[in-house]
Amino acid sequence: MAIYPIVRLGKRMRKVTANTQEETGLFTAILDQSFQGIRVVKAYGMEAYEGTRVSSLVERIFKLNIKSARIRALSSPIMETLGGIAVAIVIVYGGFRVIHQNLDPGSFFSFITALLLAYEPMKRLANLNASLQEGLAGAQRMFDLLDMQSGIQERPGAKALGVPVRGNIQLSDVGFSYVTGQPALRGVSMSIPSGKTVALVGPSGAGKSTILNLIPRFYDIDAGTITIDGTDVRDVTLESLYANISLVSQEVMLFDDTVRANIAYGRPGASEADIEDAAQHAAALDFIRELPLGFDTMVGERGIKLSGGQRQRLAIARAILKNAPILLLDEATSSLDTESERHVQQALDHLMKGRTTLVIAHRLSTIVGADVIYVIQNGGIVEMGSHAELVAKSGAYEKLYALQFAAEADAMIRVENS
Ligand SMILES: Nc1ncnc2c1ncn2[C@@H]1O[C@H](COP(=O)(O)OP(=O)(O)OP(=O)(O)O)[C@@H](O)[C@H]1O
Ligand SMILES: [Mg+2]
Repeated sequence: MAIYPIVRLGKRMRKVTANTQEETGLFTAILDQSFQGIRVVKAYGMEAYEGTRVSSLVERIFKLNIKSARIRALSSPIMETLGGIAVAIVIVYGGFRVIHQNLDPGSFFSFITALLLAYEPMKRLANLNASLQEGLAGAQRMFDLLDMQSGIQERPGAKALGVPVRGNIQLSDVGFSYVTGQPALRGVSMSIPSGKTVALVGPSGAGKSTILNLIPRFYDIDAGTITIDGTDVRDVTLESLYANISLVSQEVMLFDDTVRANIAYGRPGASEADIEDAAQHAAALDFIRELPLGFDTMVGERGIKLSGGQRQRLAIARAILKNAPILLLDEATSSLDTESERHVQQALDHLMKGRTTLVIAHRLSTIVGADVIYVIQNGGIVEMGSHAELVAKSGAYEKLYALQFAAEADAMIRVENS
């Protein structure tokens, strides 16, 4: 009789706990998001909206907690009642046998005592099961996470890239889709020769960042091949692949650590002189020296205590210090003021020197300076060539140039003239 309710309550407890954990996870995620985006929340007057979102979630978690408390509280009276019934039955039956069938009262009472002694542990067993199920629900979620396989697996027998890495990158007929049935890239073939700078231009959503993300194998392609120095990236150990690539992404990622640690991120244990050298070449040394604690200044979460241009220069310093032969650069679209722009440009020029560079270019100077330009549209290459060749063609590039860069070119000419 006791087993059935214990099992039932245990099952319910497990379900409630799993739900509670899921909702609590959601709760933390929402809080994290709204604190990260607190300026947007305030500027758009969405405090009340965020408040309602959170309170409805809190309400649900509250209800789930009540439910679990109720289940826990239920087990005690159920066991109490069952225990009472059992004792009553024993007394009636035992008493009957003592009176009418000459059962020895001594053994009868010792039996009752034994029964009462067993009663407490039985009750605890019911409670224990509730706790056990709670723990198991947590363990289940934990193991699901631990058992998750990365989509990118190193092939057995994968080799490191041959030293020295020259950085000849070749894409042949590459096809890729994030969502099956919606290709983000089709038939992309390009070559990025060792030591050269190749620029990708094209409208927003064309697939430029996608191409960039395929080279360090953040995703595996669906068709075609990508090779570095003739070796398919899928046959290279991930460690060696990452070690030879520097990535400066569109959105700079700084960690809430010191300026020094952020620059040395790709090379822990770099010497003080090397770090300063990298900062110098990234045109960052002057502003770092002016910070209250210099290289020991904490940059704040995501580098919040620095300006946009300063963050970019730290990211560039990080890439300079890593000194990998291949550079993947997604230029930030955010327009900086002319002074920071000049600094960042200087830093980039230094960074690209002598490296195989694939750059998603938003600055005219980067595009004009590239050895080859590929124009990407709708996940495919529509044109390629040098700036002069492409302008002469009066095709897609010419149009894009007129739209995006003509104003910038005018400004440059005006500055040069004045
Ligand atoms: N993680 C993702 N999951 C699903 N689709 C994605 C993902 N990332 C990008 N896409 C889609 O793939 C296409 C190409 O995106 P991509 O980021 O490569 O564009 P882009 O050329 O870099 O644009 P932009 O100049 O705006 O940065 C877009 O249609 C986009 O919606
Ligand atoms: Mg992009």
